[in-house]
Amino acid sequence: TERTFIAVKPDGVQRGLVGEVISRFERRGYKLVGLKLLVPSKALVEQHYGDLKGRPFFNGLVDYMSNGKAPVVGMVWQGKDVIRQGRKLLGATNPLDSEPGTLRADYCTAVGRNCFHGSDSHEAATTEISLWFGEKAVFDWKQALEPWIASDN
Ligand code: GTP
Ligand code: MG
Repeated sequence: TERTFIAVKPDGVQRGLVGEVISRFERRGYKLVGLKLLVPSKALVEQHYGDLKGRPFFNGLVDYMSNGKAPVVGMVWQGKDVIRQGRKLLGATNPLDSEPGTLRADYCTAVGRNCFHGSDSHEAATTEISLWFGEKAVFDWKQALEPWIASDN
């Protein structure tokens, strides 16, 4: 079954949005299987955003994620189509292009302070979960409501 890495970035933590993110994924029926609060090292953030290296905003992005003015909250969510649905719950990268009702449209106006991260593919999800958590820190559990949420018939 599918998993994705979702993070509340330091601006989202400062803004008090951790509960809101958890709430939206929970009420959709997704299962929380990993959760941690940390100040990521520069090296971790550089790896996480490796594909953006060389972009003009890269150094600023790495500093903002890793400078420790506020921590990051990392989560792993599990469930049907959770990678794609997670991105939809977050909204477009630039909050000014995000649809109303998405987290970024509801809480953000700047692409450089868009409060949240979500894996954008199966490959990214696998890489990011192992980078931020490692398999040992992810805990699958039996969700009692699962048959009421996930059944197709
Ligand atoms: P993430 O979920 O954070 O990975 O965002 P994304 O997948 O929607 O976008 P992408 O991976 O292309 O960019 C990663 C992050 O870099 C964004 O979430 C922004 O925080 C930041 N970013 C992207 N483009 C810009 C930009 O033009 N200016 C600034 N300041 N930051 C940017
Ligand atoms: Mg991305």
